[in-house]
Amino acid sequence: MPRLKKQKENTIKRSRRKITPLQTVKGMRDILPTEQFIWEHILNKSRSLCDDFGFKKIDIPILEYSELFERGVGQTTDIVEKEMFSFETRGGDKVSLRPEGTAGIVRSYIENGMSRWTQPVKLYQEGPMFRYENPQEGRHREFHQFGFEIFGDGCPAIDAQVIYLAWKIFQKIGIKNLTIQINSIGCGECRPNYKNLLTDYYEMKINKLCVDCKKRLAKNPLRLLDCKEDKCMQVASSAPQIIDHLCGDCHNHFKNTLEFLDELELPYVLNSNLVRGLDYYTRTVFEIWSSDSDLSANQSSLGGGGRYDNLVEALGGGDVPAVGFAFGIERIVKKLLNDKISLDKKNNRQVFLVQLGDAARKKALKLFDKLIDNKVSVGESLGRGSIKSQLKIANKLNSKFALIIGQKEALDETVIIRDMESGIQEVITMDKVVAEVKRRLKK
Ligand code: HAM
Repeated sequence: MPRLKKQKENTIKRSRRKITPLQTVKGMRDILPTEQFIWEHILNKSRSLCDDFGFKKIDIPILEYSELFERGVGQTTDIVEKEMFSFETRGGDKVSLRPEGTAGIVRSYIENGMSRWTQPVKLYQEGPMFRYENPQEGRHREFHQFGFEIFGDGCPAIDAQVIYLAWKIFQKIGIKNLTIQINSIGCGECRPNYKNLLTDYYEMKINKLCVDCKKRLAKNPLRLLDCKEDKCMQVASSAPQIIDHLCGDCHNHFKNTLEFLDELELPYVLNSNLVRGLDYYTRTVFEIWSSDSDLSANQSSLGGGGRYDNLVEALGGGDVPAVGFAFGIERIVKKLLNDKISLDKKNNRQVFLVQLGDAARKKALKLFDKLIDNKVSVGESLGRGSIKSQLKIANKLNSKFALIIGQKEALDETVIIRDMESGIQEVITMDKVVAEVKRRLKK
């Protein structure tokens, strides 16, 4: 079918697709309170380790000029060719929702003159990213990343430190069955020669390639190495390996990086087909994969990163080497749920307020305020009337004590304190409740 006709039909099909404002936009999802404790667990561990390693937090806008990603991530990447949410502002500026975080941080590094700060500059960021991909398990159009970058140090020990931090974060979060996949994709000196060799090799096998790879060959031959189509994987398995074609400097850089990883006892796997889908990388590239067989290839890469020594300069800054990593939070959440890891659910409450009648409800409201001022976590169900149903909730929230105020207690200015485990109850005066609760919780 001629291209224009097909495009027109697609547009008509799209406009016919039934949408309703009462559902999330395709590929986007709510993160409900029931899932929030896992997100907090992941973010708290990641932030705290970044802090230990001397990283500072940075927040950058979700919207950037499209040109930043076109020049930074690369014109021939899937991200820029077909995955960006781009539009024109009322003022006529072409902008895009960020598809990844690194290009924006580099923009900020240059714009804020960070090359004048003490180097290396170590930054971490977290937040939503947007890619117009085919939504499926582990692949969303809005997803969240946690990532970190080090600017101003080209030493292989820094590559190893970034990989070590990524690994350590995953360990602290409690993720099991992981491997570090690592490769070097060389530099501007050695990569062009290798690309020519690769193109010659693939041209001889052109009939065995999928349609996408046939198209990619002229523009970006490296990407053929990580195509997930069976027939392309077979061709890739005998392709020339970049590791055999690195220049002396890149070879030494990679060798030294691996020696540092050995020193840190990190379990890495050399993967000569790992090339990453963004154009800015130089030398070390790596990903952390889950080896769980129940995860598809789409989800098995939990995070990825590498060195990008030319990006600051390519975007108009100085000659500043850099290296970084980012992981997808949704994929980690999914992995933790699959592994059935037990986490502190946080919605537990130390004490639960039980009340009967309006007068008691008023007393309960005041007592609630006093307890939270004293940093006691309190549950309540002020709308409920039955003591039995309120005690049931106290049980669900693992409360140690229930504080019961009935009509009599409301009149007498007293409270019944009930030990939820033993069921033993005692009456105490209202003015002593907070001190007594704190004393008992300390035990
Ligand atoms: P990336 O490999 O494109 O790298 O993305 C990093 C991680 O984000 C992936 O490993 C995956 O967990 C998650 N991710 C990517 N796309 C999706 C999606 N559609 N749905 C859900 N999760 C997704 C980067 O973005 C680089 N900026 C990483 C980096 C930092 N390199 C150097 N510094």
